[in-house]
Amino acid sequence: MTVSASRVRRSVRDSLAAAGIESADAESARIVADVLGVEPARLPLAPDPTDDQLDRIEQFAARRVAREPLQHILGWVGFRHLTLEVGPGVFVPRPESEVLVDAALAALADDELAGMPAELRVPRAIVVDLCAGSGAIGLAIADECAGVQVFAVEREPDAFLWLERNVQAQHERLAARRSEVLPVQADATDNPVPDLTGRARLVTCNPPYIPDDCDPRDPEVALHDPAAALYGGTDGLDVVRGVCRTAAVLLRPGGVLAMEHGDVQGGGPTAADPGVPGVLRDSGWYGDIRDLPDLTGRPRVTVARRR
Ligand SMILES: C[S@@+](CC[C@H](N)C(=O)[O-])C[C@H]1O[C@@H](n2cnc3c(N)ncnc32)[C@H](O)[C@@H]1O
Repeated sequence: MTVSASRVRRSVRDSLAAAGIESADAESARIVADVLGVEPARLPLAPDPTDDQLDRIEQFAARRVAREPLQHILGWVGFRHLTLEVGPGVFVPRPESEVLVDAALAALADDELAGMPAELRVPRAIVVDLCAGSGAIGLAIADECAGVQVFAVEREPDAFLWLERNVQAQHERLAARRSEVLPVQADATDNPVPDLTGRARLVTCNPPYIPDDCDPRDPEVALHDPAAALYGGTDGLDVVRGVCRTAAVLLRPGGVLAMEHGDVQGGGPTAADPGVPGVLRDSGWYGDIRDLPDLTGRPRVTVARRR
């Protein structure tokens, strides 16, 4: 007896919902559509799944019920206009980071920088993406801004393998835009690309920023995102402080640093709660410091200009 794709999808949705997954509706559609090789919107028109496909859907649903991230199960995640490979050992890019990409693209389009003295100009705009993980941010910038050279810096060996894989997979697409991404395995807090001192037009970073004593609530994060991608020391700002130093070395005068942070790290009213804007202000290296909200209105990205 055959069973329709829509019916299978409803059954997966009910299992995911019973496991407490809020987006059970969308995720069940994504799982069934991925196995059948169709877009989720076309599921009602899809042919009935074969026995092999039903087995696979069942396995995927069981893994998701056990709270493995959907993106690890599928092996990919959509970010901006790109499809990136992800899995164990690398941080799954989040929709919140789109704000960081928007801020980065706005900085690259900034006319003030184009008017800099000739001796400080470079043939292609140099961008450094620190704490690159899968490469999501650097790759999206290279994809959406023609003619940039992005150095993507990642320290952790497992994450670096995913970064290299994604860079290779996007190479042709980026070359058509006269852009490229170059993976660099190094510590973002310790002058990772000395040759670029004073030459970067833009530095981006989505660092680990959770305080060490905070436990992420969702099992997908707590059990599957690498610890090095999450924790940033006692106040969560250790890597932020190191990146603040590194970016000051890499940026040319007038260059922009755009850094993502937790929604409680946008800077409080007192000196005891400086947040990321406070760290940059206290360093004395940056001016024009602004904080930007994410799509839900929460503080999310600090942008500053190298003096
Ligand atoms: C929050 S994840 C962000 C990954 C990616 N940029 C994104 O937005 O999807 C932080 C990344 O920084 C890396 N990382 C942590 N400390 C680092 C350091 N000192 N130098 C370089 N990379 C580091 C982690 O391995 C992880 O891949």
